[in-house]
Amino acid sequence: MNIVRLASAAFDALTKDPHPPPCILGAPDALDNLRSSLPPGFFLGTATAAHQIEGGLDNDWTDWERGFHADGSPHVKDRTVSGAACDSWNRFSEDLQLMRRLGANAYRFSVEWSRLEPSEGAWNDEAAERYLSWAHALRNAGIEPLVTLHHFTLPRWVATQGGWMNDRTVDLLVAFTERVAKKLGSAVDFWCTINEPNVLMAMSYLKGVFPPGLKDQRLCVQGLARLLRAHGRMVEALREHDTVDADGDGFSTRIGLAHHVRVFQPATRHPFDRLAAGLTDQLFNQAIVDALVHGRITLAIPGIVDIDEPAPNLKGSLDWLGLNYYGRDHIRVNLSDPSLSEQYVPADRPTSDLGWDIYPEGMYRVLRRYGALGLPIYVTENGIADHRGDKRSEFLRSHFEALVRAARDGVDVRGYFHWSLLDNFEWAEGHEPRFGLYRVDYGDAEKRREETPAVAVFQTIARGLGRTPER
Ligand code: GCO
Repeated sequence: MNIVRLASAAFDALTKDPHPPPCILGAPDALDNLRSSLPPGFFLGTATAAHQIEGGLDNDWTDWERGFHADGSPHVKDRTVSGAACDSWNRFSEDLQLMRRLGANAYRFSVEWSRLEPSEGAWNDEAAERYLSWAHALRNAGIEPLVTLHHFTLPRWVATQGGWMNDRTVDLLVAFTERVAKKLGSAVDFWCTINEPNVLMAMSYLKGVFPPGLKDQRLCVQGLARLLRAHGRMVEALREHDTVDADGDGFSTRIGLAHHVRVFQPATRHPFDRLAAGLTDQLFNQAIVDALVHGRITLAIPGIVDIDEPAPNLKGSLDWLGLNYYGRDHIRVNLSDPSLSEQYVPADRPTSDLGWDIYPEGMYRVLRRYGALGLPIYVTENGIADHRGDKRSEFLRSHFEALVRAARDGVDVRGYFHWSLLDNFEWAEGHEPRFGLYRVDYGDAEKRREETPAVAVFQTIARGLGRTPER
């Protein structure tokens, strides 16, 4: 069954281009008439994650950050640790003020499992109260809270039991979800169960750059299946335990998952490169979506792992699909790599500070492709590492323009969350990559936030949507 699906993905890659024709970017009217191009209530916001901004945490990542790979290189490239990060745990009202200044009407943030449940079964109600107060404060400011329940980190006590290699982690995350739903449900309707299952498993079990730092295709795929099972049960827990319609729109929960999607471009028209791109696309982009839409987990790497199981609770689990879109990879065959292919960015492409291809057209392509599923789409992340702050304005403008064009071409896209509000701890890359609309001075005790030029672009979009950024 799985092999059949892989073979058919390969056949598709060889016979047809699954992508729609290019959209024309850069037209002068692109950001005009936003209100007539986008649905009423369109969310314009920013996204963050607890471990990357809160500071003062203690989880599997805080251990990992201090360690080294077998070859002696540090787990975190620039040798920084998350540490105090942006101190957002103590500076929420300041950050809320920044959101008001942006003219945002939504905010995606995550609640930190290790903070709320520091040991198995324990519960930090003070911390939970603080998250609840944030959700209320956002609401009072006309900013819809969208809460992510799992964004990469595990409490240490979960990690030491095997983390995503242990079936029990699914039960533990579901129990945590139930408690959060009961606590925050009165103020939160929009939930994101899990952030980027594909990235989390690829980085943790394939590339070995996130904890536990392994390189094993079989474990990677098994972990992905557990994350999907967890998602299905988390949705059930949310629907059962969050029964309060916080914003009065008739729904007490609107649940999605944030899926990282990339454009995989065959390096040449050679059938081997096209095949390699098609298979990478199937495993990274498509397999998760297939599972969520069809209610069956089918994940396979021929000769290594073959999972094929019914998962009826996945079908209908999504009220919306979140897409995290950052760019494109070129793919060519490389027989010496275990995946038989390699990803690269051609030297003549414009790139971010992390060397990622800046490809706004890809925003249009992924929206058209996943919009065809018929689910409402939210862009739950999109942004750029830009230390000097001289590329972010154009990045934001061009990617938002691509989103508007997709909406005009019929895609039901209902929101855009820029990654990120603030500079933040970029996992294995450390503090050096700067993703913030607001730059953070980490050396300063006050963690001073400073506006980057892209704030003005965000504000223009907000005004186009009828919001009035505060001064
Ligand atoms: C991810 C995460 C974020 C990152 C952001 C920039 O995509 O890896 O959701 O935590 O910081 O995407 O890489």
